[in-house]
Amino acid sequence: QRKFNAVVLGAGGVGKSALTIRFHRNVFIEQYNPTIEEQGEPVLTFSVKLELLDTPGTEQFTALNERYLRASLVPFIFSRTGEGFYSLIEESSLREIDSIRQQIYQIKGTDRDIPIVIVGTKLDLNNEREVSRAKIQELARQWNLPFYETSAKRNWHVEDVFQDLVRQMRKR
Ligand code: GTP
Ligand code: MG
Repeated sequence: QRKFNAVVLGAGGVGKSALTIRFHRNVFIEQYNPTIEEQGEPVLTFSVKLELLDTPGTEQFTALNERYLRASLVPFIFSRTGEGFYSLIEESSLREIDSIRQQIYQIKGTDRDIPIVIVGTKLDLNNEREVSRAKIQELARQWNLPFYETSAKRNWHVEDVFQDLVRQMRKR
């Protein structure tokens, strides 16, 4: 059986842990507990073994850890939280994604065949979004990366994200 690793990256509070936990355990945690340490969650899925590394969000993505870069990467972008911790899916959030993406390519030394999925979260809070779907879709198209909008709370399109990722990883 094949085994794959992926890393969940993105700003603090965007919902990285919620999405990971929804995928692995099919529950939603309403309360915000910032991730302090990286946490690996192995799971058997789509007939492969996929280990997701959930990471703490940082103010800026300065140095991507070497270990992340050997793994496959899953950057995430976000909408705002229900409680106003964050103002996400705004211009700065998009630049962050672009910066992560470029760092990945730089450290990997190529922009080819690196499995990446861009994810918008908190789709259930769609009326609070700051970046239109059309805009992010256009960016994802320019970057040539798949893009999904999800809700960990409502369990919308969560599986699609990981299914796409595994599909990309299998092709390598
Ligand atoms: P760090 O670990 O600090 O980097 O944050 P994180 O990206 O892991 O965010 P986390 O998953 O902890 O979610 C932050 C807050 O957003 C929590 O209160 C979650 O309940 C909430 N949240 C996450 N996903 C969703 C969602 O799909 N919908 C709604 N409404 N809230 C969500
Ligand atoms: Mg977290």
